Amino acid sequence: MTSIIHSPAKCPNFEALNSARNQPPTTMATGLKDVDYGLEKIMADAQDFLPLLGTDYVELYVGNAKQSAHYYKSAWGFQSVAYAGLETGMKDRTSYVLQQDKIRLVLTTPMTPDSPINEHIRKHGDGVKVIALWVPDARKAWEETTKRGAKSFMEPIKEEDEHGYVVKSGIHTYGETVHIFVERNEYKGPFLPGYKAWKSHYNPPPTGLKFIDHMVGNVGWGEMNTWVDFYARVMGFAQLVSFDDKDISTEYTALMSKVMSNGNGRIKFPINEPAEGKKKSQIEEYIDFYNGAGVQHIAVATNNIIETVGALKDRGVEFLYVPPSYYDTVMDRVGEIDEDLAVLKQHGVLVDRDDEGYLLQLFTKPVLDRPTMFFEIIQRKGAKSFGKGNFKALFEAIEREQENRGTL
Ligand SMILES: [Fe+2]
Repeated sequence: MTSIIHSPAKCPNFEALNSARNQPPTTMATGLKDVDYGLEKIMADAQDFLPLLGTDYVELYVGNAKQSAHYYKSAWGFQSVAYAGLETGMKDRTSYVLQQDKIRLVLTTPMTPDSPINEHIRKHGDGVKVIALWVPDARKAWEETTKRGAKSFMEPIKEEDEHGYVVKSGIHTYGETVHIFVERNEYKGPFLPGYKAWKSHYNPPPTGLKFIDHMVGNVGWGEMNTWVDFYARVMGFAQLVSFDDKDISTEYTALMSKVMSNGNGRIKFPINEPAEGKKKSQIEEYIDFYNGAGVQHIAVATNNIIETVGALKDRGVEFLYVPPSYYDTVMDRVGEIDEDLAVLKQHGVLVDRDDEGYLLQLFTKPVLDRPTMFFEIIQRKGAKSFGKGNFKALFEAIEREQENRGTL
């Protein structure tokens, strides 16, 4: 096992993050615990030149950040954290920062007609622009990735205010998506320099979301291996698993997917591409509406999927419909689980098992008007896989939605 973290003493966020992740995981009848990704290397094939501590934030470019922020607070239980806009001296954009446990969202909207953010929104609709990664050394992260072929998005830059300083750098990835490396060991402000704390009188409670488990990228025909190679070569990731169109197909549609992971397993990026089927792949539908490659879904982890999904539904989040017949055979496939099957059925929660345990998951409908980005809610009880046994049921559910949209 290779340690890939610098001294915890130098990193004020380190202990807070680890103590939260090391809270006693759920233990019930099966004795299986929720998966807790620490900082030790668990992916043998990963390289160590780009240590990553976790996802720092995800930034979406949106048409109206104020109203999007309200949605993520009221429906998802994110908390108000920070703000930048006219009141903070930011003239060309407005950004709201929201957080729930380790998940930080930044919602940004342009304020001027000549802002390049307009073009992003015109082309893609609302969508993920930045997957920011928390690093111990942003200069080194930029040097190591650009010398391996990454296209620079932002050269290392130090930003400071009265709370300390951060160093940021960035590289391009698939489509118009970018990775920004954030080094924040010496920063104590609410988010980043330039942002002020956002105090709101409206603070709906959280819904039990803990951290980002994985983020999936959809890329075009024949491009999956290009980006798999990018994450292996440029970022040192290991390939965790590969699904071909025989694994991921229904009678009508198909796709292919490979899952890339950094060494400690905290950053996992499945990459999907469409495959030929009788009807249009959901990946092709995404590419058509997003006008290119981009983030398809953000999987967020919970320690109690029943409570989380119940709360999200109560607040208006819409999930894919799972037919009751799914539950007729699920126990034959997954064996003993801690949860009451009737309750899982009531909420449409899917179950799958691998060598190490099982997982519970379900998927929202797209959260935007274009059928592009959606969320997955996942609880891992020992299992570190991705729900292969649910692919068929999931894709048939998506096909029903495509049928309704006239895009199948
Ligand atoms: Fe997923």
